[in-house]
Amino acid sequence: MRTPFVAGNWKMHNDLAAGRELVAGLKAKVGKDCKIDVAVCTPFTLLYPLAAELKGSPIKLGAQNCYFEPKGAFTGEVSPQMLSAAGCTYVIIGHSERRHVFGETNDLLKKKVVAAQAAGLHVIYCIGELLAEREGGKTEQVVESQMAEVLSGDLKTDLLTIAYEPVWAIGTGKTATPDQAQAVHAFCRAKLGGIFGESTAQKLRIQYGGSVKPGNAAELFGCPDVDGGLVGGACLVAEDFAAIIAGGEASIG
Ligand code: PGA
Repeated sequence: MRTPFVAGNWKMHNDLAAGRELVAGLKAKVGKDCKIDVAVCTPFTLLYPLAAELKGSPIKLGAQNCYFEPKGAFTGEVSPQMLSAAGCTYVIIGHSERRHVFGETNDLLKKKVVAAQAAGLHVIYCIGELLAEREGGKTEQVVESQMAEVLSGDLKTDLLTIAYEPVWAIGTGKTATPDQAQAVHAFCRAKLGGIFGESTAQKLRIQYGGSVKPGNAAELFGCPDVDGGLVGGACLVAEDFAAIIAGGEASIG
């Protein structure tokens, strides 16, 4: 039985005052009795202060990116060790905006995944196809190579979550249907079985991301191979994110 995991990706939103307000709103709604795993992945500038706010809360902290070196002359970068020191449990790696806006390749992402786990961080590794790739019938080929070229059997699977995020569904209001999501998730789980072994693949969580909202979360998370979600826009409003978390709890009955 996999515990659903719902993570909010704040992207490049919120100053400290707004971040504190959002976290306070979430803390009021997500209590210690929460039945699923929950995280907020905030901009770097908010990590230290929000780690203090989240102390003792079931809501864990994450970052949205990191570099693969521990320290050095890498102007503008932040190391996994720095994220751990700031109080992060999680780091998102390979988000489609990193791949497609900033040109991050599978080669680079592999180094980041290994380095993040070496620093003790739990990696949320994102995969997903572009609209043209889906329309060209290439979805499985794309997600398979995003997994095969980055993930390997020597990774720490207890520090790994996969997030399937079809790029055409991110920030567009166009959500994958539960059937579309389930089909890709089942495909990914089968491929993960080839990398990590079948029993480990059964334990790995695969989040869905792309226009998850209060109105569609429970149905998506209810799919057998969908283990929660990675949420962008809707995680910026405490009531909406709390409703999505409730959808995750409902999916375990
Ligand atoms: P969205 O973003 O929920 O706004 O579509 C999801 C993501 O980018 O992780």
